[in-house]
Amino acid sequence: MYFKAGTHKENGLRYSPFKALIAPRPIGWISTKDKQGNANLAPYSFFNAVSELPPMVMFSSAPKMSKTEGLGAADYHKDSLANIQETGEFAVNISGLSQIDAMIASGVGHPADIDEFETAGLGKIAAKDINVPLVEGAPAHLECKLHDCITLPGTEDRDGCVMVIGHVVSIHIDEAYISDGKVDTAAFAPLGRLGYKDYCAVETLFEKEGVLAPR
Ligand SMILES: Cc1cc2nc3c(=O)[nH]c(=O)nc-3n(C[C@H](O)[C@H](O)[C@H](O)COP(=O)(O)O)c2cc1C
Repeated sequence: MYFKAGTHKENGLRYSPFKALIAPRPIGWISTKDKQGNANLAPYSFFNAVSELPPMVMFSSAPKMSKTEGLGAADYHKDSLANIQETGEFAVNISGLSQIDAMIASGVGHPADIDEFETAGLGKIAAKDINVPLVEGAPAHLECKLHDCITLPGTEDRDGCVMVIGHVVSIHIDEAYISDGKVDTAAFAPLGRLGYKDYCAVETLFEKEGVLAPR
């Protein structure tokens, strides 16, 4: 099958296959706080590491609505992005299989003054280097400072996504997942997002010799 991007329906595909092909995507479970002190939590699967030295991550925030539905700039951006633009800080909570229901519940679009830690039934722990709560029970957390926000191109009826890039300034790992000086990834079963309503969890690993020695 071959088709021009955007013409999947004319080619017999019910939904865009894009997300099912770029799969699995890791999930950045992003916590932030606004200037008034309201905590916020939401999952982002357009998320990844973008640099090892120094460690940096990115996630991409889609506008909340199309241009025709748009009521004005204030209503346009998701709370995570708005808070990061206000404060310059965010945390990435690593999402393991045991917290999948809470992770999905935290993706419901609540108003800015509603705390998704509470609506998803999650506890908070304090970060050390940023003023943002971390998800209690998550296997690991990355404390991040904003590096840059890049607005990507949009379409005729939608503004572009905003790519948020952050420096990882500090890392927390639950000691239960450290074994022999290494992180036991399969033990916390990190979640991945695929297309449609599909998810995966990394529970089986295999090792292969590569050319790069681990740092
Ligand atoms: C697994 C999962 C992955 C998601 N990935 C993204 C994403 O990459 N970009 C995005 O804009 N929204 C994504 N969403 C939707 C946001 O989490 C949702 O719009 C949320 O309400 C945003 O919250 P906020 O306004 O508090 O930032 C995802 C939702 C789920 C459940």
